[in-house]
Amino acid sequence: MTLIPFAWVRGCTRLLAPLRVLAAQGWLRESDVDAGLKLLHPALRLNRVFARVVQRQWVADDMLELTLQANGNWCGAQPGQHLQLFLERNGVRLSRSYSLTAVQPNGCVQIAIKHQAGGRVSPYLLEHLAVGDVLELGPVYGELSWPEAHEGVLLLAAGSGITPLLGLLRTALAQGFSAPITLLHYVREQGQRGFVAELQALQAQHSNLQVRWSLTAAGVGAEGSVGRFTDKHLADVAQLDQRRVLACGPAGFVGQVQQWWQAAKLPGALQVEAFTAPVLRADVSLREVRLGFARSHQQATANNQLSLLEQAEAHGLKPAHGCRQGICASCTCTLLSGTVRDLRSGALFSEPGQPIRLCVSAPHSDVDIDL
Ligand code: FES
Repeated sequence: MTLIPFAWVRGCTRLLAPLRVLAAQGWLRESDVDAGLKLLHPALRLNRVFARVVQRQWVADDMLELTLQANGNWCGAQPGQHLQLFLERNGVRLSRSYSLTAVQPNGCVQIAIKHQAGGRVSPYLLEHLAVGDVLELGPVYGELSWPEAHEGVLLLAAGSGITPLLGLLRTALAQGFSAPITLLHYVREQGQRGFVAELQALQAQHSNLQVRWSLTAAGVGAEGSVGRFTDKHLADVAQLDQRRVLACGPAGFVGQVQQWWQAAKLPGALQVEAFTAPVLRADVSLREVRLGFARSHQQATANNQLSLLEQAEAHGLKPAHGCRQGICASCTCTLLSGTVRDLRSGALFSEPGQPIRLCVSAPHSDVDIDL
């Protein structure tokens, strides 16, 4: 039950300014104020951002789009960015990041959530989160952006990589982008094609937009392209050499696009975003190393394969993190000594004082970090 309507929650932000000042100066404890505010409405807080679920809509067999309206503490976002979302389950606070599929002028945002079998968060959100429920939102991050040049655009997506690209596409078309756009979306099977009805409607409405799907599961019989990304799928993309290319999907897919791009020596620009954790490189043999966590006064025996984030957590530490994919920067920490390896590129870094992202860095030697 709520004592005030959600519309008042959004309007309260300015009224709470004096309390915010008192909390900032140490006269009040923010947690005490929040405990009182949430009795009025579960989304009302002094500074933290909470949002109410306004709508749920299935957009593929395994993907749900949620429309969220945040309280007045929300500072806005850009299409193509990702949003960190928190929820508490059985007393454990969990967080996941989802791409924004729309940023609406009325302050609502949309995110799309793909079902992850065995996951701790997505099955709950898909099956149990209801309209009217309240979630905490974290910061937004991500640098994918619609190209500024008025040339053609090629969008390459695999799986839920469609979601940030759709956010950008919806906005670009709404703003009148008129150069050719080709969207090629790779999914395992027919039912995993997301937003089909909307994309087909956009295609009918905008003559500059061409949308195609490629089914990657073996033996799928369907019209259109079949199989994983290959340059053959781009054979009929007009003026490919003038296109700006955006690619988003699992790390393996993004790597294939990058290889194609480099081999093709196209003059335009390529933006990529991979949303799965980097895979271990087979060419790095397993070694034991020492990890020093300076602020926690801990030393640990570790290995040179797993990320510093995983290994810190395995030793009972709780480093701040968000995406776990090297995108959001919330796990950034200072390297004090030793050498770390970037799990995405294999590059080595050993300059003391250098900021490193724990989720995509593995120790290459004995390492001390400011954690
Ligand atoms: S958790 Fe997002 S960059 Fe490491």
